[in-house]
Amino acid sequence: MKIILKKEQITERVEYLGAKISADYMDKNPVLIGCLKGCVVFLADLMREITIPYTVEFVRTSTYGESRTSSGIVQADFFDLNVRGRHTVIVEDIVDTGLTLSYLITTLTKQDPLSLKVCAFLVKPGAYDAPVTIDYKGFDVPDEFVVGYGLDWNEQYRGIPYLAVVDEKSL
Ligand code: IMP
Ligand code: MG
Repeated sequence: MKIILKKEQITERVEYLGAKISADYMDKNPVLIGCLKGCVVFLADLMREITIPYTVEFVRTSTYGESRTSSGIVQADFFDLNVRGRHTVIVEDIVDTGLTLSYLITTLTKQDPLSLKVCAFLVKPGAYDAPVTIDYKGFDVPDEFVVGYGLDWNEQYRGIPYLAVVDEKSL
């Protein structure tokens, strides 16, 4: 596996994002919506860098099966989430085709939040062709399959503390 983001680089960027969100949402008590499961490591670190009051909820989304090809179908479990009247920030691990994010934005918009923004740890090139805006971005990554810092390949590697590219031959 080839390391593409070191632990230190990630830490520095998450500190920056936490400070930015803290400044932008001062007195707004936002709700952060973590997209399981990939968000967990990023969200846990981000939460400890946000210095203002906020709450946390989760949705569970999936598009990918066992291969890297998206099935094109988004499945989501909202766990009785209701963001009506709340300043809302979706926290994603990675935006690739933007399909998951579009689906979440459409669904959450119907709940009438006070505002709705997106914080994504990673953005792949394809995301820029999708009709989604990423308000808070960690890093751009190349169009390769990346793992670590919460991201998995076949449910493995979520716990590695840096970001790596899996050898294509092993996929
Ligand atoms: P999208 O709907 O195509 O934007 O895909 C988003 C979801 O696919 C992410 O939330 C991840 O769970 C998964 N995904 C996309 N690219 C990668 C990757 O390189 N590594 C691990 N998961 C990925
Ligand atoms: Mg995900």
